[in-house]
Amino acid sequence: METLVALCKRRGFIFQSSEIYGGINGFFDYGPLGAELKKNIRDCWWDDMVRRRDDIVGIETSIIMHPKVWEASGHVAGFTDPLVDCKASKQRYRADQLFFSPVVVDGNTIGYVSALESERTAEALQEAAETLKRKKAVQGKLEPVQLRDMTEAKAEEIALVPSPATGEPGSLTAPRSFNMMFQTNVGAMTDASSVAYLRPETAQGMFADFKNVVDTGRVKLPFGIAQIGKSFRNEITPRNFIFRSREFEQMEMEYFIHEDADWAACHRQWINWCKDWLLSIGLPASHLSEFDHPKEKLAFYSRGTTDIMFRYPFGVQELWGIAARGAYDLGQHEKASGVPQVIFDEATKKRFIPHVIEPAVGVDRIFLAILCAGYAEEEVTDDKGNVEKRTVLRLSPRIAPVKVAVFPLLKNKPELVARAQALHKKLQRRYAVFYDESGAIGRRYRRQDEIGTPWCVTIDFETIEKDGSFTLRERDSMQQRRIQEPELMALLDEQVY
Ligand code: GAP
Repeated sequence: METLVALCKRRGFIFQSSEIYGGINGFFDYGPLGAELKKNIRDCWWDDMVRRRDDIVGIETSIIMHPKVWEASGHVAGFTDPLVDCKASKQRYRADQLFFSPVVVDGNTIGYVSALESERTAEALQEAAETLKRKKAVQGKLEPVQLRDMTEAKAEEIALVPSPATGEPGSLTAPRSFNMMFQTNVGAMTDASSVAYLRPETAQGMFADFKNVVDTGRVKLPFGIAQIGKSFRNEITPRNFIFRSREFEQMEMEYFIHEDADWAACHRQWINWCKDWLLSIGLPASHLSEFDHPKEKLAFYSRGTTDIMFRYPFGVQELWGIAARGAYDLGQHEKASGVPQVIFDEATKKRFIPHVIEPAVGVDRIFLAILCAGYAEEEVTDDKGNVEKRTVLRLSPRIAPVKVAVFPLLKNKPELVARAQALHKKLQRRYAVFYDESGAIGRRYRRQDEIGTPWCVTIDFETIEKDGSFTLRERDSMQQRRIQEPELMALLDEQVY
């Protein structure tokens, strides 16, 4: 992760927000290459999810909505994470990410140990238990640690669990619910009547506008409403770079189906669609897996939720959640607003609230997954036999921030420069292209490898003096071949879609 974060900063993918003021935790800026890459992810999703389908329409709703939306959806009462404070250090922890265990020797509890969730929580706790046993000079057999998180701690245990900040017990509070919605006030008055929220998900925009879309969009069940936009959550512990941040972007789609439809089959279809889509933008199947939420942990209205998981360097984590939410959301808005959220079924002459399947994903999480999967360091041998390190981002041409880099072989030959600039201008009308004339060709290739540019073309004397062909160099194989301009255009047309 450290290498990736450094690359993101060095090459202008991602910066810390407000860095000149020391940064602000959980907020990030996307630099020139990052903004391009992110836009490509959004555009691919929108094209495949909305434009290339006849059953899905796209909308864009406001970030601040009527506060009653969030009461009806359950977010005001229930969009909470369990929070534990350390009174000594003033640190705050998510209770479900803070693990502890009694340290038991020959059946006697000699103390408690704690560790923050990581890839090796159990090992960390076991090591801490061994250290405590040694420190207390207790003889006997140490029993294996029993992992529990702080939401499972009994009242009498809380004072005995050491704070991860100080290593001492006695300063942790009992878990309490912390609402993650950011509050603001609308208008000039700052009182209870003006309280509003920055949306914590884009989904409610689709539910609140359901009737408008049905009345104006000529849609028929089954159909979907999709949206891409910013969401905000006051996460207790933003972490792992852009994986969990406080301002992020979601791409969500609500797929409405008949109340009697086979929801499980539809749910499965959407899980498959999402997986295929991730493969189409270059994520390797080897890094993807599925996680079915256990039935007993689902919200009462939910029929099933499956997460597509991605193997990040910091562990296997949720990338995309696909939830079968029944008629809950529209039902809640019907109750709270008094406006019927129904569809008329011509066949049965009945009105009913449609059910919904919701694939919801974060753009930033896809961005990070793409960088993690694409990053490689290799040893390569140049023409003179020298071995050097090459850093390469193997990004799919669909989402690479620069599709083609155009080089004149030499910058002091006006005819080469003119031809290269002309090609650059022509390509620029349709693609993100980069023109570079400085430094040795090998160095120029390396610079493009590091930012994931799939192809470089070099204009040389043969281009001018012979048949107009130029060198095409492929990023992954590093192979070079001569091609003509129409061939390059056909290649781009096929691979960048
Ligand atoms: N409408 C349902 C919903 O919002 P969610 O699982 O809370 O469900 C959906 O969020 C997706 O949004 C997640 O799978 C993840 O990709 C992304 N996401 C959620 N919280 C995030 C955060 N704090 N930072 C970055 N991405 C986040």
